[in-house]
Amino acid sequence: MSFIVAIDGPAGAGKGTVTEEVSKRLGLVNIGSGSAYRAVALETINKGIAINETEKIIDLLDKIKIEFGMKNNKDIIYLNGEDVTERIREKDVSQTVSQVSSIKEVRFKLNDIFRKCADGKNVIMEGRDIGTYVFPNADVKIYLDATPEERANRRFRQNKEKGIEMTYEEVLENIKMRDKNDMEKEIGALAKAEDAIYIDSTGMSVEEEVQKVLDVIGKIN
Ligand code: DC
Repeated sequence: MSFIVAIDGPAGAGKGTVTEEVSKRLGLVNIGSGSAYRAVALETINKGIAINETEKIIDLLDKIKIEFGMKNNKDIIYLNGEDVTERIREKDVSQTVSQVSSIKEVRFKLNDIFRKCADGKNVIMEGRDIGTYVFPNADVKIYLDATPEERANRRFRQNKEKGIEMTYEEVLENIKMRDKNDMEKEIGALAKAEDAIYIDSTGMSVEEEVQKVLDVIGKIN
């Protein structure tokens, strides 16, 4: 028997941060689906495959090994045995991942990995289609949202800390473009599951978001 918490929502809603924190507090295994899509995108870059070479990307899937782990109390993702947790956040990966994640064979392969990783465990998982498609029978489903302006503000501040030069307007434009791509994807589109609890995190601190999610899980559990 496993217990599954599915958290979906758009880019910049705080899913990654909140999920990592909640997983630690409740002792749940954290499977980051976005990170897995990023790892596949990184492998295409490593192999020098262009984003439009769909067949070559599909061929890669048989050889690729993606694993999740923990190091110094931090969630880690391994690509073919190498820790790529930091690398997958870089710009080249961010620019290719959306297209890679639109390939249905990539989605089938990763969904398979996610389901195997979750088998028999207590899991929290964040993404775009976890409550709707990957785990439609999840015990708890949450849709974490915030206005595009709030999400752009958060991303703008994170970029500043990391020394990434982008204006607020550019970041906002990027967020709106990703929302559109994510929602219009043919399969695995971002959507709120009918039975998901909607949380609007606009104006909330990270701790407030964490508390809200813990409240929802506590009420259902
Ligand atoms: O959450 P993130 O920014 O790390 O996600 C990276 C990309 O992967 C993003 O373009 C959306 C896509 N993705 C997806 O299609 N389905 C998921 N379950 C998770 C992420």
